[in-house]
Amino acid sequence: MRVVRTRAEFAAARAQLPAPVGLVPTMGALHAGHRALLQAARDECAAVVTTNFVNPMQFGPGEDLAKYPRTLDADLAVCEDVGVDLVWAPGVEDVYPRGGATRVRIEPGPVGDLLEGAVRPGHFAGVLTVVGKFLNLVRPDRAYFGEKDYQQLTLIRQLSDDLDLGVVIVGVPTVREPDGLALSSRNVYLSPDERRHALALSRALSAGRDAAPQGALAVIAAATAELGREDGTGALAVDYLELRGTDLGEIPEHGPARLLVAARVGSTRLIDNVAVTL
Ligand code: PAF
Repeated sequence: MRVVRTRAEFAAARAQLPAPVGLVPTMGALHAGHRALLQAARDECAAVVTTNFVNPMQFGPGEDLAKYPRTLDADLAVCEDVGVDLVWAPGVEDVYPRGGATRVRIEPGPVGDLLEGAVRPGHFAGVLTVVGKFLNLVRPDRAYFGEKDYQQLTLIRQLSDDLDLGVVIVGVPTVREPDGLALSSRNVYLSPDERRHALALSRALSAGRDAAPQGALAVIAAATAELGREDGTGALAVDYLELRGTDLGEIPEHGPARLLVAARVGSTRLIDNVAVTL
């Protein structure tokens, strides 16, 4: 496994990789969810590249950029274990040579205004811009993203389709703790008590999914009832609970849909989602 920092080092190492190349962009703090992304790339590609970069452009003022966990040594051990070929851990100046952002940004379309986009203005423009940069710099055949960030995955699919990037975007299922909590790099912020309250999210999604044969209203009612046990108690504050089509558009009458939730538990914001079949 090679670990490189600068653009020039990366370009030299990238030139030696066999095709097809799989890219797993990450912000580090790797957990079993990232391991699943890396493993999927390892299983399907001749060479696996991962980027390890906490992207300032996708954090809003007052968000957790400064305290976001940075664990490069542990991340490299995970990469080595999975059999990654090339890790690129650039500095901010390598990704943004003109300062901490770009002059031109990739703006998400209407899907970017919903859900997370409504609560975190500018977040998805920051995500799409850095993902667009890494897709251009790495030129992978396939790129892997978690379903845990379902809206991000949807927007990256739209980015690739709409701008004809010619890269296959692969969505990888969410990895959960045995008690249902979706793995997230932000789970490290949770106290044991907050972690217990956070389980309301996955319980609500499971309740909604189980009610899906009875239709959309039943999904929302079941999930809301489960969240209601915690919401407003001071332990958990729900930002949204929404049922949408798999493309995050209109809810279909029958067939596959997606149930998505976001809540604040203490000062930590958590998101989760699940596939439902109406
Ligand atoms: O999902 C993430 O970790 C980030 O949003 C990504 C895709 C690596 C872009 O910074």
